[in-house]
Amino acid sequence: MQILKKFSEDVNAGLSKTPKQLPSKYFYNAKGDALFQKIMQMPEYYLTRAELEIFQTQALAIIEKLRLKPYRHFELIELGAGDGTKTVELLKALHARAYRFDYLPIDISANALAQLQASVLQAVPGVSLRKQHGDYFELLGSLKDSSHPKVVLFLGSNIGNMGDQQASDFLNKLADNLNAGDVLLLGVDLIKREDVVLPAYNDNQGITRAFNLNLLQRINDELNADFCLQSFEHMPEYCETEGIAKSFLCSTKDQVVTIEQSGRRFVFEEGEKIHTEISRKYDDAVIQGIIDGSGLEIASRFTDANDLFADYILIKQ
Ligand code: AVI
Repeated sequence: MQILKKFSEDVNAGLSKTPKQLPSKYFYNAKGDALFQKIMQMPEYYLTRAELEIFQTQALAIIEKLRLKPYRHFELIELGAGDGTKTVELLKALHARAYRFDYLPIDISANALAQLQASVLQAVPGVSLRKQHGDYFELLGSLKDSSHPKVVLFLGSNIGNMGDQQASDFLNKLADNLNAGDVLLLGVDLIKREDVVLPAYNDNQGITRAFNLNLLQRINDELNADFCLQSFEHMPEYCETEGIAKSFLCSTKDQVVTIEQSGRRFVFEEGEKIHTEISRKYDDAVIQGIIDGSGLEIASRFTDANDLFADYILIKQ
């Protein structure tokens, strides 16, 4: 299905629900990608720094737990590779120890992949890199095409933007395409206090606000809608017992929005919210809940010095 048609259908379906919602995957157009790069640099957004610290300080310990045989060629597959900064630490350590592997980053953004390729080859010259452009949800099936052992990286708490059922379905599908002994390295943000989590989604500079509102701008630009961005407020929430941060856009007045491309009109009451994103936080029990029945088992877990973030090693049985 054409990308624009799917976008239009998803927007109309989401805004027709009660409460209204929009899929967070549409944050990531060129402007959204640039804003997310800024988010990762923000003092409040601890996630990226904490995971980078894990890779910088524990790459060798992680490699030991991957159960790799130095003489056996394997594939290091990264889902939603982004800028690859953390992965470079792992690649350097693997390369220095003469492991034989191909690095296969998968990303929906061709632009991000080209930049990743340039920076990885500069940081780790000689590494075998074959980029794959596409939606990793759709490319999971192609993992079975190769018989090499696999290490799959899914970092950055990207899984946290899925609900638990969706995450479980996704991991089940991924595991179905792995062989016994293959590994998933899963990076997740840990459940913690509200005063640490909430500022990460409500920063002082207003970058996350701009990131959230950019979704409405994208609907205006691509579907010819008339959202007035000044009439919606960025409104994040975090419930510590549930361990889920949620982002909303709240209508500051009664208003009607028209989407010309589909001829639809949506009525907003003052105070009505559009749910735009969930960012799930994890502990062992939540992880266990989403991998149950998938054939994946928790083998080890690495955390940063402040216990903010964890990288789990899950082995397919
Ligand atoms: C990509 N993902 C893990 C980010 C997160 O923390 O949920 C996206 C994000 N949304 C707002 N700030 C960052």
